[in-house]
Parts: sequence; C-alpha cells; structure tokens
Amino acid sequence: MDLEVIQGLASKHLRSRNAHHNREQGFIYYHGQRVAKLAVNLRKRLLPGETTFDQVMIVASYFHDVAKGIEPHSKFGSIVAREILADYCTSEELEQIATIIRHHQFREKRNDYSDCVKIVQDADILDHFGSVEIWMNFQHYAHEGGTLDDSIAFYRDDYATHAQKVRSLLNYPVSLQIFDEKDTFVREFAARMALEGNGEFML
Ligand SMILES: [Fe+2]
Ligand SMILES: [Fe+2]
Repeated sequence: MDLEVIQGLASKHLRSRNAHHNREQGFIYYHGQRVAKLAVNLRKRLLPGETTFDQVMIVASYFHDVAKGIEPHSKFGSIVAREILADYCTSEELEQIATIIRHHQFREKRNDYSDCVKIVQDADILDHFGSVEIWMNFQHYAHEGGTLDDSIAFYRDDYATHAQKVRSLLNYPVSLQIFDEKDTFVREFAARMALEGNGEFML
C-alpha cells in the first residue's frame, strides 16, 4: 500500500464534505487523520514492535467514517471504502480494512475482536475527548447560535454522564488512563470557564 497516495484519496473524498451540520467542513477527514495517528500511538504502547497491522489500521482510520450520515455508517462505510480502495490494496488488506470499519461503531464487549479492531475503536473514542472535545463543543454551539452560558451549562449538567457512558466502551486499561487524563483536563477547563463566564477569576 502506498500510504501517501491513499491519504490523497482520503483528502479527495472527505476534505470538502459537510457530514455534520454543526462541525467544520472536512471534519471526517481531519478526525480520520487523527484517529490513524492515535491508533499507531496506542499500538506502540500496547504492542511495542508489532508493526504488521499498522498500515491497515491507518487506512481504515482514514476512511472509517466515510459513510457518516448513511446509517449504520460502519456497515455502509466498509462497502464504500472497499470500492474507493479497490485498486490500491490487496484483497487481504481490503478485507482487514473493511473489518475494522465494520466494527468501529457498535462496540459490544467481545473477546473475538482482533487487536487492530479494538485499537481503532479506542482511538476513535479518544479523539472525541480532551481538547478536541472542547473544539467540537464550541463548534456545536457556534453553529447553533448558542452562547458561552450554553457551553458552561453542558459541562455542568450533561458532560459527566456522556463521558461515563463512552468511557465504559473502551477496550484497554491504557485507553482508560488516556481517557481519564483527557477528562481531568476538560473538567478543569470547564470549571475555569464557568468561573470566568461569571466574571470571577482564579487568583
Ligand atoms: Fe463512526
Ligand atoms: Fe469516528
């Protein structure tokens, strides 16, 4: 596989898409690029030296949300990705890529998922937390015509339940550690935002 060429394909197919009305144009391209890097970084922590499936994880990550909006997007995405990548991957690689995409959305706790499926599942979740979570939250309220107070209210009333639910879907202890570190950062940020949004200060 030529990753540079395939990244070009991802850019061509995803960068100008508006898959979410309240996120930036090309979100699924940028998200896919981050998930690919996260997946490799997670793999290095979990399975140091085991590089055999890095390339299929990277390509699957690039395209995992290609069918976003046509639900279930994991199922349709695996079909669309096969078509886009048909001339660029071997049939074995296509099979592995399609499998990863097919299983990224519904993460029942199953023991028969391979590591490359589980790592991309966790990378996908982890990209939605930390500073990226704040970025998406601000984008959301900006598009909705919301105010700073709306964002403050979200973190006060809804964030914890949402975070807890998503956290329970992670596969690996190291993913939980990464999640918790991000979560702490977001909570500290939200506490400060609530204070400053009310005209108070930290000192
Ligand atoms: Fe997805
Ligand atoms: Fe995703």
